[in-house]
Amino acid sequence: MPDSGYYIRKLEAFDSVQNFKTGNPSFLPLKTFLQKQAKHFQQSSIAQTYVAVIGDKNIIGFVTLTCSEIDLQNGYELIDCSHANHYEFLPAVKIARLAVDNRYRSFGIGTTMIDYAIALIRDRIAENVGCRFVVTDAKSEAVSFYEKQGFVLLDSESNQSTEHRLMFLDLIAV
Ligand SMILES: CC(C)(COP(=O)(O)OP(=O)(O)OC[C@H]1O[C@@H](n2cnc3c(N)ncnc32)[C@H](O)[C@@H]1OP(=O)(O)O)[C@@H](O)C(=O)NCCC(=O)NCCS
Repeated sequence: MPDSGYYIRKLEAFDSVQNFKTGNPSFLPLKTFLQKQAKHFQQSSIAQTYVAVIGDKNIIGFVTLTCSEIDLQNGYELIDCSHANHYEFLPAVKIARLAVDNRYRSFGIGTTMIDYAIALIRDRIAENVGCRFVVTDAKSEAVSFYEKQGFVLLDSESNQSTEHRLMFLDLIAV
């Protein structure tokens, strides 16, 4: 990457998001989300978006977080709190959107944004509210990326055949 001086912060109302490039047309919904919905979702407290910024205001990546829950479907058991295994759903934060501008991929920005999200969830959300998992619905092409970040596929029959596969990270186990 010509200039590695990027940093991560919350999306701001003044941010220009028009130059973000997702490349492959199948990723267009990610660009549409950033350009048309992310700020509204943020103002309405539906989802919060964090951006990787280079220079003053050039957005080269974003990750969007929202409250969620996970049904482990007997595909994973907590060993430190067995009583919680009786609940149908356990608390989680979902990585709802994640993308790096296609001109900046493979420079570690996706990994840095995941690390940022995990630290925020662990230190500021789980610490104050109670939240055990980070979850995402991963496109099949992104499964190995998330595995490198420590996420695992939920081991259940229904999770084998869907287009977006549920992956999770146990915040206590990492
Ligand atoms: C997935 C994505 C966010 C990764 O961002 P990135 O900045 O390129 O990722 P990194 O540079 O941090 O890569 C970390 C590792 O994951 C690998 N990786 C990155 N993208 C990958 C992908 N799509 N599939 C498989 N492996 C991938 C890299 O090769 C690298 O491996 P290494 O550590 O062994 O070298 C980016 O490729 C992207 O925006 N893709 C399109 C949108 C998308 O798929 N979003 C996820 C929706 S579920």
